Amino acid sequence: MNTTRVDWAAVKADFPVLQRMIDGQRLVYLDSANTSQKPNAVIDAMADFMRNGYAPINRSAYRMAGEATDLYEGARSKLQRFINARSAHEVVFTKNATESINLIAQTWGRANLHAGDVVVLTHMEHHANIVPWHMLVAERGIELRWIPLTDDGQLDLSNLSTLLDGAKILSFTAMSNVLGTISPVKQLCAAAHAAGAIAIVDACQFVPHNVTDVQAWDADFVMFSGHKMVGPTGVGVLWGREELLEAMPPFLGGGNMIADVRLNGFTTAELPSKFEAGTPAIVEVIGLGAAVDYLTNIGMANIRHHEMQLTEYALSTLNARYGDDIVIHGPRNIEIRGAVLSFAFRDIHPHDVSQILDEKNVCVRAGHHCAKPLMKLLGANATARASFYLYNDQTDADALADALDGASDIFGV
Ligand code: ALA
Repeated sequence: MNTTRVDWAAVKADFPVLQRMIDGQRLVYLDSANTSQKPNAVIDAMADFMRNGYAPINRSAYRMAGEATDLYEGARSKLQRFINARSAHEVVFTKNATESINLIAQTWGRANLHAGDVVVLTHMEHHANIVPWHMLVAERGIELRWIPLTDDGQLDLSNLSTLLDGAKILSFTAMSNVLGTISPVKQLCAAAHAAGAIAIVDACQFVPHNVTDVQAWDADFVMFSGHKMVGPTGVGVLWGREELLEAMPPFLGGGNMIADVRLNGFTTAELPSKFEAGTPAIVEVIGLGAAVDYLTNIGMANIRHHEMQLTEYALSTLNARYGDDIVIHGPRNIEIRGAVLSFAFRDIHPHDVSQILDEKNVCVRAGHHCAKPLMKLLGANATARASFYLYNDQTDADALADALDGASDIFGV
């Protein structure tokens, strides 16, 4: 991994909300797996467009509309380079990763899956990569199979070829939002193809934190959300192989996705407009383009390196301080885990842990993390989860460890 020196204090200072004080205490934001904070560069790009250049895209002939279209398509090209897609036509803007997966299930899935066909998922998926397939079970009678996990929260691939036998789809997360586990994406894509299945990669936890190369993965579809990668809410990405996207029926019907509409039918527009019906999230796409510039300037390899060091520091600090009183789920090896720490602390309910941490302005998520089947496997209804990003540092990990002491004091355990 080629890394360079980054001034991480300056990075933190780019995020205005992190300067906020509540009750005289600084904000310690550890909920980035849920949604990330936004740097000035993104806020300014969106505000500047709305103040000085807001206009429709693809529709009107006046100059400002042309400028807006250029900014919108410029963002698409930035995304193409960011994930190393072969062509910008393969980058479709959606609402979020959830909509991207639903798009695949409702288009490729409905066109290609029939009763008895097999879709393979894993035990560490979040609901966005489970429910759309359950909907097709109900509608089409497909069969779902599940890749199990090892005791330390990695995918157990010992039975993979049997699970994939006869499968049409392998759909899996590149990184678990609960365990932090990073999947062997290349290996899984190769295994899917060897079995005659397509490989769908839910990369919404991976793309914001790592160098992503969809061609090196040899995936078929990859999806992620803007709001988890310092961009705005309301915009996500679906990347797909051009030949697959070409062959798929459209998802939503309306303006922008058509080449012609007649009384007796319609023809679809070329990619990617074919999958972008109606006026899209223009401001948000431009914001996402600014987010890509921001992350690219810092360097994704640098961000991954920073987060690995921070994860190692947080894991060893919490384990050294609390020993058996804290159970942190997922693999201990930071080479295969991202900066997500789901944990059980003494016998204190995760919601109580989160509330006590909040009194110190330490923001973590408590709950099932939209991954109920995984929670069941962990034998828990909920966990507390601290998730780190590029704007976090060791003082944030220390603040988490200190605030947990407060939870012990209050609950007397
Ligand atoms: N966005 C959800 C999370 O918090 C799934 O991980």
